[in-house]
Amino acid sequence: MNSKYIKDLERPEVYHYLTSGIGPRPIALVSTISNKNVINLAPFSFFNVFSVTPPIVAFSPVRRGKDGSIKDTLSNIQETKECVIQVVTSSIAEQVNMCSIEYSNDVNEFVKAGLTMEDSLEVKPPRVKESPFQMECKLKDIISFGEGGGAGQLVLCEVLLFHVDDSILKDGKIDPHALDTVGRNGGSWYTRSNVNSLFELPRPPATSCLGYDKLPKFILQSKILSAHNITQLASSLEIPTIEEAKNYFEKNENSKNLTSKEDTDILIKEFLDNENIEDAWKLLVYLENS
Ligand SMILES: Cc1cc2nc3c(=O)[nH]c(=O)nc-3n(C[C@H](O)[C@H](O)[C@H](O)COP(=O)(O)O)c2cc1C
Repeated sequence: MNSKYIKDLERPEVYHYLTSGIGPRPIALVSTISNKNVINLAPFSFFNVFSVTPPIVAFSPVRRGKDGSIKDTLSNIQETKECVIQVVTSSIAEQVNMCSIEYSNDVNEFVKAGLTMEDSLEVKPPRVKESPFQMECKLKDIISFGEGGGAGQLVLCEVLLFHVDDSILKDGKIDPHALDTVGRNGGSWYTRSNVNSLFELPRPPATSCLGYDKLPKFILQSKILSAHNITQLASSLEIPTIEEAKNYFEKNENSKNLTSKEDTDILIKEFLDNENIEDAWKLLVYLENS
């Protein structure tokens, strides 16, 4: 492990570790308007959700490295106290990237990047038609982390309403496959949440699940079980008794075919791959005690 103290690093290095180590980050595509009615659109990956009631989301335009000046998005939101935040899907990733060019403050990035302005219902900045999930927001607060280059200006926004396109809904819920959002990693790297990268991980069933600390040594020291398998076992509510394990083995059709330790190991792995944790446990306990 390399340990790096912030006091020994230059700003670009701190930026590198923060943005390459923390990723993928969701991207807010933020539309704002100045009090001279100039529309602005820019992406921010220092972005997330922080409260449900009230619904609060936040993003952070940092001060420009070269002169510590603030970005147009921040200046607009300070003036007019409204914005629309839209998610970035893979179909508009390149256009969003174009919106990140440091244009002068009289440029409308919708026009530069070929994105379509659609009137909002409750706020003045327009929405991005091409994004299937949009949030109209009003400014709640701005927390400044300083005046110098790189200092974040955390913009806290209260969501007034969601616009959700039918194309991303399945049984009335947002389907992550259909949404296909893009996340930002370090440098010019991005992540797509499509079929190749999405996976499901249901919450462990109950607060009273075993946990690693209650697992017997023979499980923790097993040569065949992966960390994933051991976590599956740690997520169960109880360990079968030796009696239950023996009964299971004697009555089970498959038992006759288990002539070697290798066969049994394969069957245990198969059970776990198919989320049949109960049978895996019984075989493991039987083996340990036979
Ligand atoms: C995907 C992506 C994410 C970005 N995230 C941030 C961010 O979180 N904070 C920031 O200050 N700049 C970020 N930028 C850079 C800004 O988008 C860029 O400085 C932009 O010109 C700001 O526009 P504005 O001056 O019109 O507000 C990001 C750029 C890209 C491409």
